Order: sequence, then structure tokens, then C-alpha cells
Amino acid sequence: VRQPSMPPGPTKPALAQMLEYVRDPWGYFAKQQKLYGDTFTIKLPGLGEQVVVASPEGLKEVVTGSYEAYERSAEVLRYFLGGRALIFQEGMPHRRMRKVMGPSFQGDRMRGYGPVMMRVTDEVLGRMQDGTVAMSEPMQEITIRVILQCIFGLDEGPRLERVRTHLVAFMKSMLTPWAFVPGLLLRDRVLKVLERLGESHRRADPDAPPPLSRIPGLRHAQHLGVIDAIIYDEIERCERDGGQREDILALLVRARDEDGKPLSKKELRDQLIMLMLAGYETTSNSLCWALYLLAKNPEVMANVRRELEQSFPAGFDALAANNLPYLGATIQETMRIMPIAVGVARKLKEPLTVDGYTIPAGTLLMPASYLAQQDPRIWKDPERFDPAHFLGKKPGPSAHFPFGQGVWRCLGAAFADYEMRVVLARLLMRFDVELAPGQTAQPLLQGITISPIDGMPVVLKTRAEKAVPAPREVAASTGTLERVSTGARCPFHADNDAPVDAEAVAVAGGRKR
Ligand code: HEM
Repeated sequence: VRQPSMPPGPTKPALAQMLEYVRDPWGYFAKQQKLYGDTFTIKLPGLGEQVVVASPEGLKEVVTGSYEAYERSAEVLRYFLGGRALIFQEGMPHRRMRKVMGPSFQGDRMRGYGPVMMRVTDEVLGRMQDGTVAMSEPMQEITIRVILQCIFGLDEGPRLERVRTHLVAFMKSMLTPWAFVPGLLLRDRVLKVLERLGESHRRADPDAPPPLSRIPGLRHAQHLGVIDAIIYDEIERCERDGGQREDILALLVRARDEDGKPLSKKELRDQLIMLMLAGYETTSNSLCWALYLLAKNPEVMANVRRELEQSFPAGFDALAANNLPYLGATIQETMRIMPIAVGVARKLKEPLTVDGYTIPAGTLLMPASYLAQQDPRIWKDPERFDPAHFLGKKPGPSAHFPFGQGVWRCLGAAFADYEMRVVLARLLMRFDVELAPGQTAQPLLQGITISPIDGMPVVLKTRAEKAVPAPREVAASTGTLERVSTGARCPFHADNDAPVDAEAVAVAGGRKR
């Protein structure tokens, strides 16, 4: 029985709600908001009741809240990530680990990954033919290869390919409903069983693992075993001779806690597997949604191209990918309209009064980024895909938070933004992109991210040679990077540096849903 203090919401059984949510995550949330208002309660198997917050006032209160008031709730990930990863840490241990990992995802070190991102992108695009292509797979290949090289320091070669193949197969098997629902119910017990079943592969030579079983459950466990065998071997290699390396694995291996102790191999393994999994489907799905919106809005695509051609007359320079304000705004706008998650999860440590409801401690709360990002009280013409929503405007923290917010904000946000700039720039310079006939962009919640159900088919046509300026020679090292600045300003907006708060554009005269 729902407590009287809980907001209203659908009364269907949890499984029925889950199915509706999975089939149309954005639509499901929009529908509940229409039926029950800005604050409503949904129920999902394994998670129980969850209060969704979508009012501008409620979001302001909740979104930037910190360790004192909330725990981050990442329970849905426990069945395929080890429980020692950053995403499960709280309070001081979480803050300390962010300090260790953060620098690798920021500033010059992060931009230094640009040349790797461009090389991988060009290789994958170079194999693509004109015609109808489902973009999910090539986008996924790019993002996994980038992650494995930048985070792990893995070079191209059979080992990288082996991790990639097993990672994709493992995630595919874990994100099917038959694994996901029990995973929600049984949490890390699922992982313990898989670890036991895959032990023979974990102990095997990482470069010559035994063949996989034909029995599905056992095969999934063995995929994980092979991934672990390679991760542990890479950790040992880095401990032996990683002194000069600058990739994230090397930084983690060198990190020490307050007592001067290094991270255990198991902790390292969990952090690495988390980074691999957090960093590829999120970015590849966002790229697919961006391509869909660009193909549907050719005038925006033309503006992106014009900016690229004006900014790089002598050839694309991956180190300067941040100096593309219109492309940056296009990416932000994509994540506003078609985000890969409907919200973030928090667990209340103490009772919270929001929108007139007093919600008890221990309740799961979901600040709904998708609903905030569509809110006509905050955004002018919210349904319209228009990068001008971000040109010269910096939305407030509770108006646009596709990467989450506050102390738990996505660690890889700048990395993902950078990678998307490089991939989209190279792709749009090389190919004309049109929607495949009948493309409807139907979303599906696959495990943790919202992906296009049909793999996002588009029609590609190679552009004339002169429209694909060759990349400029760039230093491939990640360490010694000179700051590159073209001082670019957005050619489509006069005052793109002026800080404007989208929340200020809000409230006055806005429609109420
Ligand atoms: C478009 C791509 C991406 C999106 C939309 C995205 C989104 C998110 C979101 C919504 C969260 C939860 C934030 C919160 O609870 O407030 C998160 C957390 C996280 N993301 Fe991302 N992410 C992306 C790419 C990446 C990449 C490329 C990496 C790493 C290489 C990464 C690593 C992480 C990590 C480690 C966390 C947990 C942070 C913590 O607990 O402190 N993400 N991400």
C-alpha cells in the first residue's frame, strides 16, 4: 500500500510498468507527467517505488544535492559491474577516488586523446560503403576502440579486438530482459555466479583462451572470464613497466589512499570495467541520436558543415575540436531532446518535502532530466531541434543535465563531448547523410541506455573529394600537448560568449503541461 505522503502514480504491477517504460522510455515519462503532475511515483521490479521529480522548483532543490542529503543509487548496475567501482562509492571515498580519476578526463590530457579519436574514427569510416547503413554498430566500434586505447593504453591488435568482441557479447547477453530483470532482483549474486562459472577462462592465458561453451549462461560467464583475464594481465603489465604511461590505468595503478596503500587488483579491475561500460554505449547511442536529428534537420547539418569548413580550411585538427561552438551546441541540443537516460537516481538519507509531498528517508528519487529538458516553462519551443537553444546561453544546472549533476556528475562528460565532436566532424565531412526511408527513431531502453530500436539506419553518400580536407598533422602523444586555440567564435551567433541562464528565460508566460 502506497504511503499517504507519496505522490500519486500508475497502479499497474511493477513488471507491466517496466515493460511500458522499456518500450518507450521518453513517452512513458511524458505520459505519467501528464496524468499525475510534476511529481509522481512509479514502481519497477527489483527497485520498488521510485519518486520522479520534474517540477522546476523540485529539480532545483534536488539536482545538486550532495552526500549529506542523498546517496547515489546505482543498484541497477551491480549485477554486471563489481561493487567496488567508483559509481558505488559514497562520501569521502567517492570524493577521493574522483580526485584520482578526474584529471584524466579534463583539460589538456583529455584533449590529447583527440588524435586517437580521429584515427579510430577515420579507420572505421574508411571501411564504410555508400548506401543504407545501420549506424549503431560502427558508432559502437569507434567508441569501444577509443575507450580501450585511451583508458587502458591498449594498442590496436588482437588483444584489443578480443576485449572488444567479448565486451559487446557480454553486455548484449546481460541486457536482454531475461538477464536484466533477475539482475535487478538478485543484484551482485548474479555476478558472483558468473564469476564462478567463468573461472577457467579467467585463469587461462589471456592471449589463448579456451573455446567458449555452447550453453548460453556458461558462455556469458566465459565472456566475462576472458575480459577479466586480459584486464588483470594489463594491470600486472602496467605495475611492472607503467612508470611513464599517462593512460588512466597507469594513473590508477600509481594512486595511493590516505594510508599510502595502492588500490587492490580487484578494485582496479572494477574501476576499469566500469569505465569501459560507462563510456561506450552512452556515447555511441548519443551519436546515433545526433545523426538522426541532423539528418532530419538538413539546415542544422548545413550549419555544422559550414562551421567545419570555415574553422579548418587547411584540414581538420582534432586538437581544436573544442573550438566549434555550433557543433558543441548541436550535441547539447541532441542530448536535450533525445537523452540516453530519462533521469538520474538518488536515495534519500532524510525525509524531503518536495512539491507538497513529504517523502520518507530511504526512498529512491529520480530527478527527470528528460522532462526538465522538454519543459515549456524552461525552454522556448522545446520540441524544436535548434542548437540556438545553447548558443550564447548556459542553461541552469536543473534545466539541462544529461550527464547528471553535482558530486556524481558523469566523470566522462568532457571526454564524451570531445569524442562526439571528433566523430561527427569526420563523418559529416566524409559523407552526406539522409534518413533511411520509414525511419521513425523508435527508442528502446536497453539496460541502462536508450538506444534506437532498429540500429539507426541512414543513407550514406561519399562527398566530393575536396569536401573532405585531410587531417592536419598532429602530435599523437597524450602528454605533451600544446594548447591549440583558433579563437573560434560561432559564425551563426553574434554573442555566443554571453552567459544567459535558460532558467531565466523560463517561468514567465510559459505553458504548463
Ligand atoms: C554521451 C555520453 C555519456 C552520457 C550521456 C553519460 C551520462 C552519465 C550520467 C547521467 C551519469 C550519472 C550522473 C549522476 O548520477 O548525476 C554518469 C555517470 C558516470 N559516467 Fe557517464 N555518460 C557518458 C559518457 C561517459 C564516458 C565516455 C565515461 C568514461 C569514459 C563515463 C563515465 C562515467 C562514470 C565513471 C560515472 C560515475 C561517476 C561517479 O559516480 O562519480 N561516462 N554518466
